[in-house]
Parts: sequence; C-alpha cells; structure tokens
Amino acid sequence: MTSLLPQLDRSATRKVTTATLLSYREQGRKVVFLTAYDYPTAVFADRAGVDILLVGDSLAMTMLGHPSTVAVTLEEMLVFTRAVCRGARRPLVIGDLPFLSYQASDPDAVRSAGAFIAAGCDAVKCEGGASIAPRVRAMTDAGIAVMGHIGLTPQRLGQLGGYRVQGKTLKAVEQLAADAAALVAAGIFALLLEAVPVEAAAYVRESVGIPVYGIGAGPLLDGQLVISHDILGTFVGDIRPRFVRRYAEVGEEITSAFRCYADEVRSGRFPAPEHWYSIDPADEADIRLARETLTR
Ligand code: KIV
Repeated sequence: MTSLLPQLDRSATRKVTTATLLSYREQGRKVVFLTAYDYPTAVFADRAGVDILLVGDSLAMTMLGHPSTVAVTLEEMLVFTRAVCRGARRPLVIGDLPFLSYQASDPDAVRSAGAFIAAGCDAVKCEGGASIAPRVRAMTDAGIAVMGHIGLTPQRLGQLGGYRVQGKTLKAVEQLAADAAALVAAGIFALLLEAVPVEAAAYVRESVGIPVYGIGAGPLLDGQLVISHDILGTFVGDIRPRFVRRYAEVGEEITSAFRCYADEVRSGRFPAPEHWYSIDPADEADIRLARETLTR
C-alpha cells in the first residue's frame, strides 16, 4: 500500500557514515567533499549539504601561514578538529594525520588516530601506499575507519620534488594500483587520489571495490574534494592549482570590508548614535559633573 505521508528524502539529514559512502558508490551518486578547519565553515558546509569534511593538514598553510603542510602538530590539528566536529552534524568528519604522527610505529599511528576519534571525528586519513599499509592495519585493527591518500602526497614533497602530477606512465599507474590494493587489504574504507591524470584515476578506481575520491584527479571518480580556501578565494599564498575553480572572492570582500571600517573610524563616521549606549538623563548630569571635576 502506498503511504499517504509525504515522502521525505531522509538521506538529506541522516548522518553520513562509511556505509553511506559505499552505498553512494554503488548508486553512482557523487560525493561532495570539502576541507573545513573551523566551526562556522563546518556549519555552512553542513547547511549546504556537503557529505564529507576533512580537517586537512593543509591548515598548516591555509590557517597558520606555514610554507608547507609538515609544520603542523597533532595538538594543533586537534584544536581545529574539535571546532569542526562541534559544527558538523550530517557530514562524515575526517581528521588528517599530520606528518610524523603515524609513520614511525604502529602504537604512534593508533594513538594519533585515536586522539582524532576522541576529538569527535568519524575517521582519519593518512598519506602513503604499500609502505604505510602496516600502520593502516594497526589502526583498522583498533577499530578506526581509515581513508588512504595516494598520488601527490604533500607530506613527501621533498621526495616527490615539488607539487607534480603523479601516475603519468603505465608503470606509475600500476604502482598506484598496487598501493591502492595494499591499502584496501589493510582495511581502508575509501581512497583519495591527488593530482593524477583522468585515465590513471579511472584505472585505480576500477581496480578496487571501495569509494575513490579525487582532488585534481578528474571526473571519473566517486566524488570530488577541494580545499575550501581555494574555492572561496581566501588562501593567502602563491599556489593556485589548475584543478581549482573559484566560486567566490571572499578574501577581496574581507579586505574591502576592513578598508571601509578603517576609513569610517578615521573619519569619525563610526561609531554612529545607533552603535553606542546612553543612560538616564539624571545619571548623565551626575556623570557630566563628575567628569568636570576630573578635568579641573
Ligand atoms: O590536508 C589536506 O587538505 C589534504 C588534501 C590536499 C588532500 O590532504
């Protein structure tokens, strides 16, 4: 029997889980994936229907002004992470394991990942392929959902020789697929590909049965990640990857608002009467008298 109640799209409000993401891959439904580093951004992204939020170690550059991602510590990451978790209700929140918080040993990996989960994250992400698979296994064995990240991995910028597209030859693509397979065997629930050609990304996606998302990896994947500062125009730096589309110029808006404020303070147009507080005329007279005695 057909229900007379209005059909609600419950998926629009229901918390996104790793199971939701697998079902989206099966349905061919694209996932919207965005970085967030603070409470208001998490609230705005949630209201906009974003599916996954990454508290990325890119915050070292976007929020803290470092030249690369490696300078941010686990403790710093956790401050931003708690703020995002307070603001995000529906999106799956992923904490990005910072440089050297997981590479050296299994206990390091489990403790660092555990700190993100305790801070409110649903999952963690770490960079690297087969070489990092034992760390991933330790985390998934501890019950933690882990996303893999291969291709351009900014924590290895020195080894990679800079921000370069990865997976440009058949050999390199086969290496990416082998890394993906090692991570899948270690229990990742999803994989992120960064800066790889469209064909390479499609090959890797087709070689695994889990959701594969991309940042600069073309349209043939299960969803797209972008850095929120890149699409909003708030990144204060020289890097402007070709895979980014600007949806707003918020940085210019902020600068212009600050300029107007400065002009109005200097010219005396701010504050205006509607911005200040007044008191009863009787009290005002007393205070005026008191002020006069001060200036005598
Ligand atoms: O830290 C981050 O935002 C990331 C993306 C660039 C993939 O890891």
